[in-house]
Amino acid sequence: MKIGDQHHRSIELAENGWGVRVIDQRKLPWHLVFVTLGSCNETAQAIREMWVRGAPLIGAVAAYGFCLALREDASDQSIERAYAALLSTRPTAINLKWSLDRMLAAVASLPPRDRIKAAYARAADLCDEDVALCQAIGKHGLGLLYTAANAKPNQPINILTHCNAGWLATVDYGTALAPIYLAHDTGIAVHVWVDETRPRNQGASLTAWELEQHGVPHTIITDNAGGFLMQKGKVDLCIVGTDRVTSNGDVCNKIGTYLKALAAHDNGVPFYIALPYSTFDPNLSNGNAIPIEERTANEVTQITGKLPDGRIETVTLTNSPAANPAFDVTPARLITAFITEHGVLSPKEMLRRAA
Ligand code: MRU
Repeated sequence: MKIGDQHHRSIELAENGWGVRVIDQRKLPWHLVFVTLGSCNETAQAIREMWVRGAPLIGAVAAYGFCLALREDASDQSIERAYAALLSTRPTAINLKWSLDRMLAAVASLPPRDRIKAAYARAADLCDEDVALCQAIGKHGLGLLYTAANAKPNQPINILTHCNAGWLATVDYGTALAPIYLAHDTGIAVHVWVDETRPRNQGASLTAWELEQHGVPHTIITDNAGGFLMQKGKVDLCIVGTDRVTSNGDVCNKIGTYLKALAAHDNGVPFYIALPYSTFDPNLSNGNAIPIEERTANEVTQITGKLPDGRIETVTLTNSPAANPAFDVTPARLITAFITEHGVLSPKEMLRRAA
């Protein structure tokens, strides 16, 4: 990821060699603040309270949380405690379990004295693998954008995205945004419609910030504007990320994704899902079985922003009760194709490969 002229990853080992350095995403777009997490409890808190978020990044941070737990105590009981504590932080993204299962497998059969080194090595591998997966997703998705650009000579292609599935949601490059960065770097004229993504505004505060850092033209829209823009022919394609895809191809992603998929379907706009294999859940037969995180009503009734004097403040919009389901499920029939590390695959092909 490019911040100014500097290349970073969303998660890096801290200078002390054992802590983990992440961006406190709650502070964006106003302040870029790096924090070092020094214990399993701190990593669990950072995931639960969404200092870090996005399915692949949650998995990567949990992997290091597991390492930190072993540093404190490398016994079997400590492993069990860390696994359960980290797994309980956020229920919807399957990448969390995917990552913790791999960490567990890497250390469980080792004597306690060998576990810490093995765990750090495995966590580093998982992060490197995520980077490679996102690069491959970018490369395959680029072909789609190239085709869309050829169909519209001398005009930018308009891509709509929801939530944040960019660098900040992964270790680097992103999933849905990876092809967009590559297209921009290759000279394809792209413009991104960024859904603000209420209630936490991951689109307005994270995706827009990322795109800005990379110089990609973009416009923030309210979550309700996408359907209208599609009716007016102003969206050429949609690309979103996902937190879990079930074995029938149903796609769980940030709340509001389903409505965009319906509007895209009604208007003949292709709707693509970008995902690494770590987001596929072969154990669930369909999207109804996915646990949907219900977050605090405060995220709906309050909003944070910058005052004219530069202070960041949270204000209350209403005192009425509010509900806050954080994800929804888009049925497989509304998906045009999946952009994966293996290529752009129809839902059937994707499932055949994943099986
Ligand atoms: O609640 P969040 O911000 O963790 O939700 C993130 C999303 O819904 C992303 O679209 C998803 O994790 C894919 S990230 C590559």
